[in-house]
Amino acid sequence: MTIAQKIEEFMTRSSWIRKMFEEGARLKAIHGADNVYDFSLGNPNIDPPKSFKKKLKELAASQDNGTHAYMPNPGYPAVRKAVAAYVSGEQQVEISENEILMTCGAAGGLNVILKTILDPGDEVIALAPYFVEYGFYVDNHGGKLKTVKTRSDFTLNIGNIQKAITEKVKAVIINSPNNPTGQVYSESSLKELGKLLYDKSVQFGKTIYLISDEPYRKIVYDKITVPGIFPCCKESIITTSYSKDLSIPGERIGFIAVNPAASYKSQLINGMGLANRILGFVNAPALMQRAVQALQGESVDISHYAKKRELLCSGLEKFGYEFVKPAGAFYLFPKSPIPDDVKFVAALQEEKILAVPGTGFGCAGHFRLAFCVEDNTIINAMQGFERAIQRF
Ligand SMILES: Cc1ncc(COP(=O)(O)O)c(C=O)c1O
Repeated sequence: MTIAQKIEEFMTRSSWIRKMFEEGARLKAIHGADNVYDFSLGNPNIDPPKSFKKKLKELAASQDNGTHAYMPNPGYPAVRKAVAAYVSGEQQVEISENEILMTCGAAGGLNVILKTILDPGDEVIALAPYFVEYGFYVDNHGGKLKTVKTRSDFTLNIGNIQKAITEKVKAVIINSPNNPTGQVYSESSLKELGKLLYDKSVQFGKTIYLISDEPYRKIVYDKITVPGIFPCCKESIITTSYSKDLSIPGERIGFIAVNPAASYKSQLINGMGLANRILGFVNAPALMQRAVQALQGESVDISHYAKKRELLCSGLEKFGYEFVKPAGAFYLFPKSPIPDDVKFVAALQEEKILAVPGTGFGCAGHFRLAFCVEDNTIINAMQGFERAIQRF
């Protein structure tokens, strides 16, 4: 064996999206890219806003000294100040730059948080269906992922979470708007969750954190608002990125915000600064920090995704597919017409449609469609969706 056994095993476990990616490449080579309908990846297909490219040009032309140098591990103070001002409005809580740490995307943020708070054997609860990387990130830092089912409409099941919280639990991760379901959690359910975590922290004499992973916060439909986390839960930490809302996932830029009311706020921030460094990120990319500083509150035009959501939902509904219409993000998570979601996804593949089985998100019997694709991909895939469901 030339590589670690655990990585060998993880590569097999994590292979759903990769398998689809490879299958997509194979089908595209045979049939041509326009004849394969690839809904497998959450890679935004809309260009970043013009203001992003304009800002990059300005920054590249800058002659200021030290713009490419090392910086404080949490990021440039001026950038964190701009982020703090924006997040204060979003959360309706006054936040300072001392509560913000710039990260390499939300994935980097999650790893920094988990590195900072987990002791070996600590458990972290994720709500199924869930973003499959959570299991790997928790493992990276010696923790154990424990999954708890949401309700059938993918909203929070507080009773299930309550039953799962033992003295070993250090944190609960939520993701709203959700990947893969598009569900957005209500303010009342978040308040209930905040109270549950408080009660359990008192019961066990320890702090149980709420980690809110929210890279889709700005991608919502029908004028829905995503409730702030900080007013609902004192011991809470947000991580997010500009990957999805500015369409720049390759640039690896995001941030962590710690609730200013958190009991161990300065220990958390100091620990996370160190974690950012020793995980090897050192600091978030300098150029991207300066770019997003000027783009607080901006996003791509969400109406494009709203149109794609309508095209996909209205089409699939006609053929008898069952699903919860997503309130946010750019994913649809329909029920598989047969219990074996892997088999149904294989049937879709025969129609040159690439989807990911719900099994890959800890929720068999469903499949995920990422609709951050061209409108024509959705329109042209409809006949295949119809034929696939008719086969069962
Ligand atoms: C729920 C969720 N969390 C985190 C991430 C990682 O985001 P980033 O690429 O900004 O690190 C993703 C990316 O798809 C995601 O869907």
